[in-house]
Amino acid sequence: MRAVNIVEKGECAMTSNNRRIWCDTAILMSLCFIVLLPSFPQNKSVSGAFAQTVPHAVREKLLLDPGWKFHLGDASDPKNDFDYGVQATFAKAGETAGVILPDFNDSTWRTLDLPHDWAVELDFVNVKDEDVKSHGYKPIGRQFAKSAVGWYRRAFVVPKEDEGRRLEVKFDGVFRDCIVWLNGHYLGNNLSGYSEFSYDITDYLRYGQKNVLAVRVDVSQYEGWFYEGAGIYRHTWLIKTDPVHIPDYGVFIHTAVEKNAARVFAQTGVINQSESSSFCSLASLVVDEHGKIVASSSQEAAVPSHEQKTVQQELTISNPLLWSIEQPHLYTLVSVVKSNGRTVDSVGTAFGIRTVRFDKDKGLFLNDKRVEIKGVCNHQDHAGVGSALPDRLQYFRIERLKEMGSNAYRTSHNPPTNELLEACDKLGMLVLDENRLMGSTPELIGQFERLVLRDRNHPSVILWSLGNEEWVIQNTDVGKRIAQSLIVRLKQLDPTRLYTYAANNGNTFEGINSILPIRGFNYMTISDIDKYRKEHPEQILLGSEEASTLCTRGNYAQDTLRGYMVDYDLYPPSWGATAEKWWKFYAAREWLAGAFVWTGFDYRGEPTPYSWPCINSHFGIMDMCGFPKNNFFYYQSWWSDKDVLHIAPHWNWRGKEGQTIDVWCQSNCENVELFLNGKSLGKKTMEVNSHLEWKVPYQPGILEARGKRNGKQIVARVETTGEPVKIKLTADRTLLRADGEDVTLVTVSALDDKGREVSVADNLVRFDVIGKGKIIGVGNGDPSSHEPDKVLVGQYQRRLFNGKCQVIVQSLKEAGAFELTASSEGLKSESVFVKMEAVQLRPSVASMPVH
Ligand code: GAL
Repeated sequence: MRAVNIVEKGECAMTSNNRRIWCDTAILMSLCFIVLLPSFPQNKSVSGAFAQTVPHAVREKLLLDPGWKFHLGDASDPKNDFDYGVQATFAKAGETAGVILPDFNDSTWRTLDLPHDWAVELDFVNVKDEDVKSHGYKPIGRQFAKSAVGWYRRAFVVPKEDEGRRLEVKFDGVFRDCIVWLNGHYLGNNLSGYSEFSYDITDYLRYGQKNVLAVRVDVSQYEGWFYEGAGIYRHTWLIKTDPVHIPDYGVFIHTAVEKNAARVFAQTGVINQSESSSFCSLASLVVDEHGKIVASSSQEAAVPSHEQKTVQQELTISNPLLWSIEQPHLYTLVSVVKSNGRTVDSVGTAFGIRTVRFDKDKGLFLNDKRVEIKGVCNHQDHAGVGSALPDRLQYFRIERLKEMGSNAYRTSHNPPTNELLEACDKLGMLVLDENRLMGSTPELIGQFERLVLRDRNHPSVILWSLGNEEWVIQNTDVGKRIAQSLIVRLKQLDPTRLYTYAANNGNTFEGINSILPIRGFNYMTISDIDKYRKEHPEQILLGSEEASTLCTRGNYAQDTLRGYMVDYDLYPPSWGATAEKWWKFYAAREWLAGAFVWTGFDYRGEPTPYSWPCINSHFGIMDMCGFPKNNFFYYQSWWSDKDVLHIAPHWNWRGKEGQTIDVWCQSNCENVELFLNGKSLGKKTMEVNSHLEWKVPYQPGILEARGKRNGKQIVARVETTGEPVKIKLTADRTLLRADGEDVTLVTVSALDDKGREVSVADNLVRFDVIGKGKIIGVGNGDPSSHEPDKVLVGQYQRRLFNGKCQVIVQSLKEAGAFELTASSEGLKSESVFVKMEAVQLRPSVASMPVH
């Protein structure tokens, strides 16, 4: 006997707060034992009096990530591409050859678990080409046929008992242009590197035997102008359902908040893929964070064979806990379908109750409270792992942004990974969810539809972005017509949210801008926003892209040869503005809803203003690892309610004795006094949304800032240190889930003999792991480092960059512990112990050898 399996959403919740994880999991687990009665009394725990066991696994969502085989192919030479396509491939169903066939011998291929990005594993190439540069100097694209194709194969058995069910394979995201076969049969081709896709494979299966998926991924073409990765870099799933079930995207939930109550509108599809008519009942239960049913509704409907019905239900929750940035309360809608009296499907969908309203004079209101958008744009890659982020890393990144005081995230310039949105839902981060290439053909509108259908239940998503800087079409009738087509479809799929477009055409109103309820400005420097406001007072205005100062973390001398900027808020690109300039402008205008900084984190590619040897961007408020640059503390001062007092630069200037050093204080104190070796250098008053500066003749010792905020004294200091003598390791978490997926991010730094961090250290550090963990990547935020982030054979190592590097260590699927040791010539080694607690593993498809 197996229980109803509700694993649609939320089962992989991984926050730093383990209680939260268990709470979510507990709800879903307890719901696994529900049998629906015709109507449900409210306010009962689902694991209580109404629980009975359901005698069959009605839906299984199995992770298909472990145990894939991988080999590079070749985009230009069939000999190196397993002779793919030499023989007719699409002439007869199932008549294929070689690498596509189930019995192809792939025993020499590499075995790996998804998610996987092969681009991050490749060496950098110094090629003078704008696209290669903007993609981070990796050999990806049309010019690099030898690394442009990746082959993946995965064998799995489908038991005989599954005969009669519907089975689907689902890919959350593959970069890009992939062709998928099962057992030698062509299933389809998916172009987008950012949209999810799935295939019903029921007809092609061999029950009780081995089935083999073969996937050819071709990155010959880019989609964006930034690092995009290569391969199956998001999760894959095998989903098994009864022929009568809730189809993909079948649940759409939106809410209305009233006095002391919320109405929940649930629209649920039920499809009957069986040969006989089905008399169905759909019960929808709203379950709160403690597993308590707080509302329910059931409805019956006859669904004829091979037809789909949509059921509309309205439920009321008394005294709902609203979803907000500070308290992101979530509910789960559990939808249970019975067919002819038998429970056949059950899906859990997380949602939140909140109101979102934009006002042309006052900007954004969340739950009727004005919220200034303190946003950041981001691409999806991180140090060490490229674009194949373990789920926990999404939470880590959102946590860092929240710590800075940011409240909004723009998924520039593409549909994000599911788990990023789950992190935003759970941690309280607003999302501007962005489409990739604008177009209205079936392919392109199809990508947009999949974005909206997938993401429309997330409370974090407050606004859609139709596109970004489509400069060929944005001022034209073509652009306007395409946008109009997207808007028509959007209103059908999600009538609850507004939309914008990230425009870099200044004050232009023609074209796309003329049909938008919300005008998005990419860069105030190239627009006259005050004038635009006067000319178009009815449009809501926000900054879809602002700032960005070019900074290299911890660096204070511009170096055009090596490609380093200074870490002061000084040098934006010609179209940008400093942090201080753009924020002062927006903060002073209530009618601007706020803006999104380009970018929260550095990313690979776009090394503006440099080129080789510089390989990643300088735009981030944090570097590739999430280590803060000085601007982090500017934003934290004015965006968060924390007490902030931060001094830059470090105080290790040997050889510069007597020379003037520019000292900046980022702080939200009312005034700050600076002392060098106990001697005052003057007290200064802080202007709101500013920083303070002193010119200080260098003398080794202690530079101390003393500030006053709300009557409280705050002190910060930087000190001249000695040489590094010892390594320091700081793990962001020391208790992981033993699920083979969870990670800890370990910061590596160097200490002097007095235990002070040496912020100029650049020692090469080697890493060993003993026990139940494995290193999956390293990074240091150096925009010109050509050291490998991934080491496939041999020992991981990384040089400290301005005192820091990062190691990402992943748990194995066994409880226990691991010890990470870091050693460096001439320094005392250091170890950190991380424990792994036993957890219920996500159900997954057993991996097996292909032959
Ligand atoms: C913007 C663009 C971004 C990025 C940025 C660099 O115009 O939308 O993708 O290229 O410039 O400043």
